[in-house]
Formats: sequence, C-alpha cells, structure tokens
Amino acid sequence: VVAVNESRTERTFNDRYGTGQSALDGILRATNLLLAGRTLVLFGYGATGKGIAQRARGAGATVIVCEVDPLRALEARMDAFEVMPALEAAERGDLFVTVTGSRGVLRREHFERMRDGAVLANAGHFDVEIDLDELRELAGGRVRQVLPLVEEYDFGGRQVHLLASGRVVNLAAGEGHPAAVMDMSFANLALAVEHLKLHGPELENRVLDVPKEIDEEIARLKLESLGVEIDSLTPDQREYLSSWGASSSD
Ligand SMILES: NC(=O)c1ccc[n+]([C@@H]2O[C@H](COP(=O)([O-])OP(=O)(O)OC[C@H]3O[C@@H](n4cnc5c(N)ncnc54)[C@H](O)[C@@H]3O)[C@@H](O)[C@H]2O)c1
Repeated sequence: VVAVNESRTERTFNDRYGTGQSALDGILRATNLLLAGRTLVLFGYGATGKGIAQRARGAGATVIVCEVDPLRALEARMDAFEVMPALEAAERGDLFVTVTGSRGVLRREHFERMRDGAVLANAGHFDVEIDLDELRELAGGRVRQVLPLVEEYDFGGRQVHLLASGRVVNLAAGEGHPAAVMDMSFANLALAVEHLKLHGPELENRVLDVPKEIDEEIARLKLESLGVEIDSLTPDQREYLSSWGASSSD
C-alpha cells in the first residue's frame, strides 16, 4: 500500500492550493458574497485550512483562525492571522468555514452568538462539522431555501445561512479542484501503481511513502509545464551537504 495522500506534491498542492481555491470558489458561487471587508472565521489551520486562510486574506477578508492544536495556532498567529477561541470568534464572523475533519465544531453555543446574516460552510469531508440537529432545533422549523444551495435558518428575527446542507462545499457548490492541481494527484497515483508493479516483490509488506524520486519527478514535470527552470546543486555543494548527512530538499 502506498500512502499517496502524504506525498509532498499531493498534500501541499492539492490541499493548500486546490482546496484553498475551490472551497472559496464554492462559497462564492453559492452566495455571490464579496469577501473584501468581511470577516471569515476558519476552523482548522491544517493543510487545507492554510490555503483557505491565505486566499481569503488575498481577497480582502479579515481572517480569524480557531484551532485546538497549540502549534498550528501559533503558526496561524505568526502568519499574521487573528487567533481566538470559537466562542469569541462566533460574535465576529460574517462567514464561518470548518475544515477540521472533526464533528460538532460549530454548534448551538456558537450559533447563538452569531450575527444576523452569518454564512456557514464546511470544507471538511463529512457533513458533521456543523451540528445540523442543533441548527434545526434553534430554528424550530423556520427554515427556508433562499437560493439553490443556501438555506436560511431563522432564530426569531436573526438569520444564519447554511451552504450546501453542510456538505463539502467545493464539491457540493463548485466543481472541486481545478485540473491543474489534480494532474499532480493523479500523477502520484499512476506512478505509485507503476512503482508497485515494477518493485512489488522487493517492497516491505506495510504502508509505504511515495518514493522521494517520484515526488521530485512530479514537481519537476509540473515546473517544466509552467515554464519554470531552477538551479541544481554544484558538485561541491552536493559533497558538502552529504558530508553532513543532510537531505538536499527538506
Ligand atoms: N474539501 C476538500 O476538497 C478537501 C481536501 C482535502 C482535505 N479535506 C478534508 O478537510 C479536513 C481537514 O483536512 P487537513 O488535511 O487540513 O487536516 P489536518 O489534520 O492537517 O488539519 C486539521 C486541523 O483542524 C484542527 N482541529 C481539529 N478539531 C478542531 C476544532 N474542534 N476546532 C478547531 N480546530 C480543530 C486540528 O488541530 C488540525 O490542525 C478533513 O476532513 C479532510 O478530509 C477536504
């Protein structure tokens, strides 16, 4: 078994650039919101969350990150995002995006503090990150479809809007990742299968990483397709680095 999802050309590019762009694209297609000047509260500063945060900032939004991992929270802060507990952020956000892989990330105590007109979207893979039962309970049946992918939950004079029924928003409201990033994901799959075919008998019986050479070859080809050239180590640099036992690409 080869863990293609963990290769560098998959994880960095598919998650950060693919999900980062397509999650916002899904949100914008569903709502036609203007991000500039809005406050986006992001739950989860992982591989995917980082992409969403960067792109939302680039579009003019103020981004607040909510995290439970101190290292990721610190990274977000040092990337110049605001970081705070969810209860505090709930009062500040215009748009809330969950991308944690966990459940009940947005729940009653947050819904109760949200501003009128807040928009809720999920980019994690399952529709459990936003607690839909609690959302329905709070609205007590006052739910209406206001746009094809937007449901309005009325909490008695204050409304919040749920996108794509809390399902993964870039797939439910958009077209998923652009082909220009999926090419690297599919190259990983294809070359990992070829690797298994060519070297299967010599490989250990466990979950393996994509070989570094395959990862680097995919990045090299992608650079070539973008018309980008890079330098190589000189023989002297190579010898110097290998004398320290250091890897040239980490
Ligand atoms: N929409 C897509 O196309 C797409 C693409 C890739 C991954 N995903 C999904 O996105 C989710 C996250 O993936 P990832 O690779 O970024 O994971 P990750 O593990 O790198 O990051 C998740 C982050 O969420 C944080 N977190 C967990 N519970 C939290 C909570 N209650 N509040 C705040 N933060 C919390 C974790 O500390 C972690 O930093 C997964 O469900 C994954 O399947 C979706």
